[in-house]
This record gives sequence, C-alpha cells and structure tokens, in this order.
Amino acid sequence: MTRMFRMDEAQPRLLDETGQGVIGKPLDRTDGPRKVSGTAPYAADGLPDGAAHGVLVRATISRGRVTDIDQGPIADIPGLLCVLADERMLRNPAQGMAGAAPVQPGAEVHYYGQPIALAVAETFEAARDAAQRLKVSYETEDGVETRPDMASELEVGDPETAGDFDTAFAESEVTIDSHFTTAPHAAAAMEPHASIAEWDGDTVTLHSSLQMLRFNKKELADSLGIDPDNVRILSPFIGGGFGSKLGLGPEGVAAALAAKKLGRPVRVVMTRQNVFDVVLRRTETAQRVRFGADKDGKIRAISHDDRVSNIEGEGFAEPVTQASQFLYGADGLSFTQTLARISRAPTGSVRAPGEAVGMLAFEAAMDELAEKLGICPVELRLKNLPETHPMTGQPYSARRLADCLKDGAERFGWADRGAPRSRREGDWLIGMGVASAARSNTLVPSATRVRLKGDGAVVETDMTDIGTGSYTILGQVAAEMLGLPIEKVEVRLGDTDLPGASGSGGSFGANSAGSSTFLAAKQIREKIAEMLGCPSDELTLQNRIARGANREVPLTELIEEEIVEEASIEGGKTAESHFSSGFGAHFAEVAVNEWTGEVRVRRMLGVMSMGRILNEKTSRSQALGGMIWGIGSALTEEMSHDPRTGHVVTRDLANYHVPAHADVPGDMQVVFLEERDDMANPIQTKGIGELGISGAGAAVFNAIAHATGARVRDFPALPDRVI
Ligand code: MOS
Repeated sequence: MTRMFRMDEAQPRLLDETGQGVIGKPLDRTDGPRKVSGTAPYAADGLPDGAAHGVLVRATISRGRVTDIDQGPIADIPGLLCVLADERMLRNPAQGMAGAAPVQPGAEVHYYGQPIALAVAETFEAARDAAQRLKVSYETEDGVETRPDMASELEVGDPETAGDFDTAFAESEVTIDSHFTTAPHAAAAMEPHASIAEWDGDTVTLHSSLQMLRFNKKELADSLGIDPDNVRILSPFIGGGFGSKLGLGPEGVAAALAAKKLGRPVRVVMTRQNVFDVVLRRTETAQRVRFGADKDGKIRAISHDDRVSNIEGEGFAEPVTQASQFLYGADGLSFTQTLARISRAPTGSVRAPGEAVGMLAFEAAMDELAEKLGICPVELRLKNLPETHPMTGQPYSARRLADCLKDGAERFGWADRGAPRSRREGDWLIGMGVASAARSNTLVPSATRVRLKGDGAVVETDMTDIGTGSYTILGQVAAEMLGLPIEKVEVRLGDTDLPGASGSGGSFGANSAGSSTFLAAKQIREKIAEMLGCPSDELTLQNRIARGANREVPLTELIEEEIVEEASIEGGKTAESHFSSGFGAHFAEVAVNEWTGEVRVRRMLGVMSMGRILNEKTSRSQALGGMIWGIGSALTEEMSHDPRTGHVVTRDLANYHVPAHADVPGDMQVVFLEERDDMANPIQTKGIGELGISGAGAAVFNAIAHATGARVRDFPALPDRVI
C-alpha cells in the first residue's frame, strides 16, 4: 500500500528508537567493490548487438539558422547509415524540466557548438568523419553579443527587499561598496555524457547517465512525442553529475530518434570537447555587494546585486543571492538580479547553484567590512546573526552557525592570526581566512518500495547514485528500521520501472529518498506489529527476529513470502512554518609567493551543522569534495570563451583547471556538529552535497587578502591578479 506523508505531521522518531546502530556509521560504500573492479556498468558500457554509432554535428556560427545540410561530401564514407536532421530535431530546442536545458538539436542556432544533427554509421570513426565533413549552410544573424559585459539585451529583475536599504545605508557610519566578478564554471564530471537507445515496438529503453530519472523519462517522452509509459530509462551507475546530468541531454534524444529510424540500437557518446561545448555550464557573474554598519560592527544595511547570463529563451538564472538573503540581519536589505542574453553555451545548475558563486563575493565583502571596522571577521559574523529569516520572518529550524564559527576558530588556531601581511616564511606570505557556509534545504517528492523477506530486504526506487552514496545510505535506513545487517539489504536503483524518487540534485536526494525509504520500512514495522498483536512502538526487530506481545518469532517463520510496502513523501520547502538550511564555517590558510603570485592552500577546516548524519564517511567525502571545489573556484577554475564567437576555448581537463592532488593540502579537516532538524523531514537530515562548496572559496580568498594585505575581487585569483 502507498501512503503519502506531509511535512506538517508530527515527527516520527523511530529511526532513533530502533537502536540498531547502523545509522550514522562510517560504512564503506556498498557499490565500491563493483566500481573499483570495473564491473559496474556505466551508460556507454554495454553495447547491444547490431548497435550503430552516432556523433553529434554541431553549429559553427554563434546565432542564426541552418538552411541546408549537404551530404555530398560524405557520400563516399563506408558504413555511413544516415544523417538525422528530421523535423523533430529541427524544431526549437525544448526546455528541459529539470535543468532548463535545450534537450535536443535544432535548426535554430543559439550558440557556437550547439548540436544541429546526428551522423550515424557502423563505426564511431565513420560517424565522426561524417559529422566533420558534412557541409552545413547557415543564415547568420548580425550583431550577436557573446560577452555579458557588452550585452544590450538585459532583463532587470524586480528588487527583493525588506526594510529600507537606501536610508539604512545612507545613515550607516561605515560602508563597503565592492564589485566582484566570477568566471564561468564547468561541472567537469569524469564520465562524459552518453546514451544508448533501443526500441522494442513502441517502447524505448535509454541507457544513460542522468541524475533525475523520473523527470528525465517525461523529458524524453515529450521530446519524442510519445507516452511516458513507453519510456524506460536505466542509469544504475553515474560517473559524477554536479548538475550537468539533471536534465536529459541532446545525445539521448538524438540516440532515440536515430534508433527508431534505423530499427537498431544506437549509441551516442559525447567527446570531452562536446561536453564542454554543449552541456550546461555555470554562468559567469558580476556582483556588487554593499554593507552599511555602525562603528561597533552592527550591520544596518545589506545589498547584493548580480548579473548572470543565459541564451535567449532559457528560463534558468543562477540564484546568486540565495544565501545573502538569510545569513545576516539588517534594518534594510535589497537584492536585484540582471539577466544578460548572450550567445554562449546555455547556463544551468552546477553544484550549489546560487550559493557557490554568490557566497564568494558576499563573504569576501564581509571580510572587507571586518577589516574596515577593525573587528575580527569571526566576531563580526557572530554579532550579526539574525533571530529570524531577515526577508520572511520565519524562525530557523536548526542553525548552529555560531557554534560552527566558534568551534572552528578554536580548532584552527584563529587567535594566532595576527595583522594582515604580518607573517612571512622566506618568499612566502602566510594568511588565514574565514567564511560562513550556508545552503538552503529542500524536499522533492519521492517514493520507495521496500520488500521484507524472512532472510533480508530489498529497497526499490528509481533514485540515482551519482557517486554520493545513495546505495549505501538507503540500505542503512532500511537496515536500521528492519533490524538487519547491511549485507542483508539489497538496494535497487536507477530504473524508471521502479517507484519514482527525487533523483540526485540540489542536496535533496538523501533527504527525500531517505525519507520515503524510512516511511516504507516504518509501514512494514506496523504490519509486523499487527501480525504479532502488539502496538508498533513496542515492536523490536533485531537480527531477523521479531519481538512483541511476549512473543519472539524469527522472520523466516513469521513471513510467508514477503511483506511489500510503498511510501512517498511530498515535496516542498520542508515544513513551511520554518526556514531550513545547512550552515557551517570554513577556515583556510594559504601561502602566497611574493614574486610570482602563486597561491598554495596549506590547510582547510570546515565545521558544519547539517542535520542528522546518515553515514559519517560518505558525508565527510561530500563535504571534502565541496571544499576542493571551493579551492578550484578561488584559484584555478575558469571557462574561457572566444570573444568573437562565444566558443569555449578551454574544452578539456588540461585547459580547464580543476584542482589536482598537488593543489589540495593533506590537511583538510571536516567536523560535523551534532544536529537534528525536526522541521526538515521525517529523518531529520539536511542536504550535504553542496554545503561544502558554499563559502569555501571565499575563505581561501580572504586568506589571500590577509596574507598579502591587498584585495583581489576577480575570481579565480590567478597569479597575475594576486601580484
Ligand atoms: Mo546539483 S547542481 O542540483 O546536481
């Protein structure tokens, strides 16, 4: 039976009361052995018999229309099967549901490198040859802008305000008015985007690498103009997503169309260059942060304005000021966003959309304010934590930001920090920086089915594991509730034939799919209690033995075949009465070479309060990974676009610099403060995947300013900017 749970109900705490000790333990990932032994199948791995190979043909203009595709030059290619540019491919790019991505190639060109057709052949080499030698004619549009700072098509949003910023700012004794820029970022997932499509009559199966299968199924059905019941998507293992696989990609639609047309399976794998050219990137930003404060450090006015970009017609605009709206209090707050329409690859969600870039500028400006006031940056933050959400007036559900700042300062040795440019080791200037971390917390509708047999359980949902640990934590939730060792819980994910989950994204995966798994297992407990004839809160389940009503029965005797229960949780911003967010504090120590401007991060510490920890090891890995992204955004990560065409110049992992091992210090510490969020969801967790990146880069940036005594306001802090 399926039951729906709403967040305004009284909170069940049974996850604590079972006392099995499986929840929270730093268990190894259950999918680990398959991944490291190469036996976990990824999207492009299982090539079906008779499969053909497709390669995306991409536009070589910045904006305009495809007028003709001449196949003359490729007629002699052996094994060429077709060039697919049929009507469905030549209509406008459709908006993806999850990622606002153009999900299929189209004749209308919005950016250089956009997919416009698919070349299909017996071999990958022949298909690539055809894709490169096709003669495509265009009608090009004049006066197209590829640079956001030059864009004339600007959509200025309405200011979001509370109180009167202008008056509060004008009356402030000390003010800051600083302008920042951040570079466009790539998700840079290890596994390139890939799809294999197979048809059986009217039904298509897509093997792909995607984050939100329930939504992706609908996207594919919409793109093909078929019933969603005729679509099955399989995505059991995913080599990273970071937002780039939230929405269905053009290669998936193209593979499905070509497979239908040819009556045989088709595989389309993007090259690394394709991924950089085509997949949603994070917008570049220009940001202006203004603070007004009294001399004693009480903030009176906060304003954070930003400019982001996207191609024409796309709905996504990076929510840059998301955390700026709830971190600190003031008499007047004001936030305004401007969206520039330009011809560069479209923008979308990349890890922590909003906070990841917004907090770089906002928290760097806080550091400037602290310096101008002559107040310790930790003290300034502690002094300005509001009682309630400054914009909505909601109480916070759980917020240990003050504890994170204090605990972190103590552990990091913050008291020894000293004045700016006061520490030196030879040619190296040493500095320390701090920044708050915050990432708002959500729930997305999610369903799970749990089967309990005498000898173990099976968890079934179309949830994905993008390398984050879903297989493991969902197993832990079920094992805890059903009194089973983790080895006795089989977790089946990544198949749209299973109950529809939230998918992985926005740090909502563990909250949402974890909650529905908990609720389904709880229903099973109620069933067993009924069978024993005891109230469900008096039931004990341990080592496959059920105890209750003075009876002790092995599950093998109690359960004839299996007990099957399904449960779902509603989506939304957790309990509406409260505001739920993860919080934390990042600390960084850097060394800056006085002559070359090279920055080395020496150590980092993140102290975080992020609700109940389901698995101490996978949580720590997420936090660490996020902090490493922080190093990247502060120091090295920058997508460069050719100013003439908008084409991506840094199209591989040699030219787009994610931090490598040598860039990351050995001393990376993560501390979790104990916390339960009663208002977040039935398992009292909060999002973990994105809190680590949010604010981390600002801590590094602030450490550079402390080391050198000078401010850089353009991210990343490349050596020529630092010196
Ligand atoms: Mo995340 S950027 O919502 O995968």
